[in-house]
Amino acid sequence: MTTAPEILGTLHTLKTIAIVELDAVEDAAGLEAWRIAYLGRKDGRITMIMKGMSALDPEAKRTVGAMANDVKTLLESQLEVRTEEMKSVELNRASIEGRLDVTLPGRRPALGRLHPITQTVREITKAFASMGFQVVEGPEVETDHYNFEMLNIPKGHPARDMFDTIWLDHTNAEGEQDMLLRTHTSPMQARVMEMTKPPVRVVVPGRVYRYEATDATHEWHFAQVEGLAVDQGITFANLKGTLYEFARLIFGPERKVRFRCDFFPFVEPGVDMSIDCFNCDGAGNVKGSDDGCRICRGSGWIEIMGAGMVHPRVLEMANVDPTVYTGFAFGVGVERIAMLKHGIDDIRYFYGNDARFLRQF
Ligand code: DAH
Repeated sequence: MTTAPEILGTLHTLKTIAIVELDAVEDAAGLEAWRIAYLGRKDGRITMIMKGMSALDPEAKRTVGAMANDVKTLLESQLEVRTEEMKSVELNRASIEGRLDVTLPGRRPALGRLHPITQTVREITKAFASMGFQVVEGPEVETDHYNFEMLNIPKGHPARDMFDTIWLDHTNAEGEQDMLLRTHTSPMQARVMEMTKPPVRVVVPGRVYRYEATDATHEWHFAQVEGLAVDQGITFANLKGTLYEFARLIFGPERKVRFRCDFFPFVEPGVDMSIDCFNCDGAGNVKGSDDGCRICRGSGWIEIMGAGMVHPRVLEMANVDPTVYTGFAFGVGVERIAMLKHGIDDIRYFYGNDARFLRQF
């Protein structure tokens, strides 16, 4: 039977020899062979020594065990050092032999950027933020209740038609489909009014969905920015002033605006707002020629959003007293603004994921 002093002596010798051998190793295969010989889990020398300790009394076992562990740790760290050393030797050799030319210029990493629609959303919300509007977001999966009912869009309204709305496979107690992908950002009008006492001033950017065939001006999903201001004494003049300032911030300080009557169930009166064409300065044709302007299609005006005074019924349903408060709301189509600003003639480019297109912005 081996005694404790004998084992300690063996360990000491083993350590010295192992380190000398390690220094002499010349390649990766040699390193691996060395590792297996000394540190191998099954029958490496250290493992064997540890196995041989079982016959020792507990006190001796503790001393010998601690020493064996120390040697093991030392050999492991020496192995790591030697591995690193050999890597750098190998690298040097490779570059001397010309396999690696360290003087070659590096490869420029491809940098990403914000999608043009994200950029436009930020431009729009920044313009309204400068006028004191807060930015909030809402759910893309909506209920019939907020997307339609709370906006004074009764059952039977064409917007609920299966050809406009993407309905989810979900029904209420009466067996009617009651959940959908929001068709506009307007449902946030009611959600915000229910959550916040007036004064309210918010803009809501977000993605909306329509069951629609795509063409140059239609996508089945696109982005909108909704706006809502509610307080005592808000008038149509506030709506005009705010949206006029918005048009100037986005399309330039010389812009003129035009409001015409339009219908949306959740506003009264409702309007569409146009700006005078920034391409032909409202002339409708290209300067010095009879060619019609391609941006405004010869009319001199470009419609950019729907708006209006919040319908009293919409206020009432959201628990805002329409005899005390009034408000205005608006909705902007983001792709349309981006297309106008950059002269893009097909909305589908935005979602085609062609880097040659996206890189331009
Ligand atoms: N929600 C309307 C749409 O998607 C846009 C809109 C029109 C929003 C008038 C408004 C508004 O807030 O007042 O077509």
